Amino acid sequence: MPYQPRPARYADMPYRRCGRSGLKLPAVSLGLWHNFGDVDVLANFRAILHRAFDSGVTHFDLANNYGPPPGSAETNFGRLLKEDFRGYRDELVISTKAGYHMWEGPYGEWGSRKYLVSSLDQSLRRLKLDYVDIFYSHRPDPDTPLEETMAALDHVVRQGKALYVGISNYEPAEAAEAIGMLRALGTPCLIHQPKYSMFERGPENGLLDLLGREGVGCIPFSPLAQGLLTGKYLHGIPNDSRVAKGVGFLTETQLTEERLTQIRALNELAQERGQSLAQMALSWILRDERVTSVLIGASKPAQLDDSLRCLENLTFSEQELGRIEKVLG
Ligand SMILES: NC(=O)c1ccc[n+]([C@@H]2O[C@H](COP(=O)([O-])OP(=O)(O)OC[C@H]3O[C@@H](n4cnc5c(N)ncnc54)[C@H](OP(=O)(O)O)[C@@H]3O)[C@@H](O)[C@H]2O)c1
Repeated sequence: MPYQPRPARYADMPYRRCGRSGLKLPAVSLGLWHNFGDVDVLANFRAILHRAFDSGVTHFDLANNYGPPPGSAETNFGRLLKEDFRGYRDELVISTKAGYHMWEGPYGEWGSRKYLVSSLDQSLRRLKLDYVDIFYSHRPDPDTPLEETMAALDHVVRQGKALYVGISNYEPAEAAEAIGMLRALGTPCLIHQPKYSMFERGPENGLLDLLGREGVGCIPFSPLAQGLLTGKYLHGIPNDSRVAKGVGFLTETQLTEERLTQIRALNELAQERGQSLAQMALSWILRDERVTSVLIGASKPAQLDDSLRCLENLTFSEQELGRIEKVLG
């Protein structure tokens, strides 16, 4: 049976305006960094995508290098777009990025116009798309003038290969400069994608204020700290977990006794709120109105179901927030 999206898929998902743009994003978006490569199981990632779209998740986030091997997440997603989502392109917001190492030689990473434009062309071929909705500079390049990187973003929009542009992993001062340059070019910065979770509080040091002031959206990545902010590591390391699989940057060394003590205490509070720890970690980020969407990962449809239920309780009492601060020290 071909996939038929659930007719009531838009009933429960809130859509939040991305900064001062016209684009709305689902409060929860799905990233394809892990679990969608050639090393993964197609039937499983197909099921995750179906469950996501059936739940109102309209935004899917990729990058040139997602896999492994690099590029395979885009190829696999492109195949499923064709096979299962044909006819639904206008209901989807698809993003990709360039910045990290993708091919050999001096033009295969960072922020030159040469790299960014070629990389987007390659991504479009893998995705079998004419355009992506959002194209990001994945990281700032200390050696390329920011003007060149921003002009390349403006260029791909004018070429019709991207509808909007964004930046990721830019610190507040360089983000402010980038936002100003893009505005002057006539292609406003739609969104910033920073790492942000209860365990990674960097964006609270000026970035969220800047984005709020400038009317730029914010889509925090790794909001579950790659799975640490769930109950999964409370009783050892499950065989099917990201730590056990050892394919990324999450390693056992991050599961210190201090971390586990924090996770246990947060888990208790989540239970008192009637949430799983994953749900509380996501609600905690979404309580800030400057956040447009949380960008989660999922290795199983059931995880997605669990995480999506964060939307049932987005408010925190002062006392709960105080307890979280105390745990996080
Ligand atoms: N811009 C950047 O530089 C950058 C960097 C990193 C990520 N990102 C984007 O952000 C997206 C999300 O990053 P992420 O995958 O690190 O996010 P995350 O949501 O912090 O972690 C996702 C992982 O946590 C586990 N998990 C998720 N939901 C769970 C639940 N309800 N219960 C138990 N475990 C759960 C799963 O890992 P298991 O394998 O253990 O099941 C899942 O793969 C990426 O796909 C990518 O699009 C961007």
